[in-house]
Amino acid sequence: MGVGGADWLERSERESEENPTRAIQLLGLKAGMTVADIGAGSGYYALRMAELVGPSGKIYANDIQPEMLAILKKRMRATKAVNVEPVLGTESDPKLPAGCCDVLLMVDVYHELSHPREMLGKLREAMKDGGRLILLEYRKEDPYVPIRPEHKMSVKEAKMEVEAEGFVLDKTIEELPWQHILIFRKS
Ligand SMILES: C[S@@+](CC[C@H](N)C(=O)[O-])C[C@H]1O[C@@H](n2cnc3c(N)ncnc32)[C@H](O)[C@@H]1O
Repeated sequence: MGVGGADWLERSERESEENPTRAIQLLGLKAGMTVADIGAGSGYYALRMAELVGPSGKIYANDIQPEMLAILKKRMRATKAVNVEPVLGTESDPKLPAGCCDVLLMVDVYHELSHPREMLGKLREAMKDGGRLILLEYRKEDPYVPIRPEHKMSVKEAKMEVEAEGFVLDKTIEELPWQHILIFRKS
């Protein structure tokens, strides 16, 4: 998604359509945690998670589009978020410190990756022991989810691709209206 999609990410109906408030509750975040929002876009999730991890925690808000990070930085100033660090990555490297993160989150991002294997390798390095890689993807199995098929993933597809790179699918949560929550750990 290009920067022209930022308005869609920030649309007011997103709450009723996707229930991101519930999604964030289900991530199991705690004060003091370090979380990387990979493909953070305009920061819709990053800024909400920043409140949960609090001043002793940190959010790395990563994206490959400087224009998305510019929108995020403007919103950080408006919300006075001090525990969010924008990180410009590349298509194959999120540019995160090794072992930095309790949680690595990708909301509607994994299916967009041009170099998924390289990215998964780097994300594994950035994950603390005991950490979690969490994907939210629109349910391909459900024809009533009103998203184009190329932007959806099935559990089977995600499990096959991610597990091949040194992860194991630990838990699948099917509580959201449109998206799977897929929680991976290091294998
Ligand atoms: C559909 S948007 C989702 C944005 C945000 N996660 C949200 O849900 O509001 C996908 C984002 O992934 C980013 N992206 C694509 N490939 C990426 C990569 N290899 N590393 C980091 N971000 C990437 C895009 O630039 C875009 O901002």
